[in-house]
Amino acid sequence: MTGPRPVPAPVEGLWVTFEGGDGSGKTTQAALLEMWLREQGRAVVRTREPGGTEVGDLVRAIVLHHRGEVAPRAEALLYAADRAQHVATLVRPALARGEVVIQDRYLDSSVAYQGAGRVLDAAEIRELSLWAAEGALPDVTVLLDLDPADARRRLEADDKPFDRLEAEQADFHERVRAAFLGLAVGEPDRFLVLDAARPVEELAAAVRARVGDALGSPRGPRGRG
Ligand code: TYD
Repeated sequence: MTGPRPVPAPVEGLWVTFEGGDGSGKTTQAALLEMWLREQGRAVVRTREPGGTEVGDLVRAIVLHHRGEVAPRAEALLYAADRAQHVATLVRPALARGEVVIQDRYLDSSVAYQGAGRVLDAAEIRELSLWAAEGALPDVTVLLDLDPADARRRLEADDKPFDRLEAEQADFHERVRAAFLGLAVGEPDRFLVLDAARPVEELAAAVRARVGDALGSPRGPRGRG
């Protein structure tokens, strides 16, 4: 038989990030999403920032566990360095293979956390991160929004020692929360904001609905630049 060869479907990955305060349930939701996608035969890469690469794990050890002062600009640059390595060596290659990348935290965490320290300007932090990531932005960002007091109770129930940032005071976490919500308002197409106090299964269903939609729709170039 002659005629035109069938054109293979474009290989398009999908990049989903989870954001929210410490203890908002990102890891649980990321794991449930991964399970659901794998059940459908999707190739999935689960990763996180800081970390996710060898270099990233070294940076993670500094930013989360270094005792003593880390200057705010040094901290912002460390997160950005981790991000640059992560996007270049893990995220972009996986997306190019058509896989789904599920990622715990991305540049919105830098804007919310480093910006909440009040020393650095949120817009500058975002620019720094975008430079590091060559403008890459996720297709979907799930923000698990939770009152920091509830989050604190959850973390205490976990009985794990607090890392350096988790030990910060309550008003810092309030500012982080407000910053995340502000980011979501600014980019309504990218963000799905969920009330993280809702039952785990309900949240998972909302995430699946959004990710399912995104997988079914054409995706243009990712992010800026
Ligand atoms: P992690 O143990 O991964 O926490 P969680 O389970 O809360 O996601 O710790 C990540 C910590 O790093 C968290 O407190 C937020 C902080 N962080 C920043 O301050 N800036 C960033 O750019 C990123 C990615 C994380």
